[in-house]
Amino acid sequence: MSKLPKLVAAALLAGAIASPALAQSKPDAKTEAKSAPRYDIGRAPTAEEIRGWDIDVRPDGQGLPEGKGTVAQGEKLFMDNCASCHGEFGEGNGRWPVLAGGKGSLTSDNPVKTVGSYWPYASTVFDYVRHAMPYGNAEAFKVDEYYALVAYVLYLNDVITDQDFELNNKNLAAIKMPNEQGFVMDDRAAAEKSFWQKDPCMKNCIAPVKITARAAAIDVTPEDKDKKSRGVE
Ligand code: HEC
Repeated sequence: MSKLPKLVAAALLAGAIASPALAQSKPDAKTEAKSAPRYDIGRAPTAEEIRGWDIDVRPDGQGLPEGKGTVAQGEKLFMDNCASCHGEFGEGNGRWPVLAGGKGSLTSDNPVKTVGSYWPYASTVFDYVRHAMPYGNAEAFKVDEYYALVAYVLYLNDVITDQDFELNNKNLAAIKMPNEQGFVMDDRAAAEKSFWQKDPCMKNCIAPVKITARAAAIDVTPEDKDKKSRGVE
């Protein structure tokens, strides 16, 4: 089972109700092969190639590579390699993503999703940054440098408060992120069991939809120039 943010879980449920056809789609019996088909293209990957791809990290720390880095080391790397887009304090330059702040804003009209306000696990931050950053030059750094960068990003979000703190493969999984409880286990297999059936309900399945907010109120349209722009305060 995977975890979903509470808000997304609700949206997915709404989507599932809107597209019951999904539940009916079955593989075409004629094209279903008895065993996995062979196409005779490519070759089996080498163990080294698999190791190169297999760099995911789980919330319990499984998959973390051996390494370490401090907030202070991360600060320097961040200034040189990340701040041009994300701002020196993670405030985001121009329209580049904001990495810090926004705490307590998720249920407001203007949610600011950042590592501190939104991300459930420190492992997610390490996994993502190591896979994808710096943007356009992913995986450019050594493992120790990624620990340092992640330590700094967590420091920007007050998750780590000591400049001398050393983040490593032994202590990363123990770090608690502020919004961990904002995520729920994906329980659709059980919670929606009655819905995912052979003959799903196609008519009058849910109570009449109640409109609780309108687009204008939740601010999905571009803001007026003179209005304060989104971001960290
Ligand atoms: C050229 C601009 C650029 C640079 C430099 C850059 N990033 Fe990013 N960063 C992005 C963009 C764009 C995204 C969003 C990518 C997406 O959503 O697919 C992002 C996303 C992120 C996120 C996730 C934000 C969120 O909440 O979704 C983190 C964390 C992050 N970057 C950290 C870093 C770190 C650490 C560095 C330096 C090693 C770095 N970035 C360098 C452009 C940049």
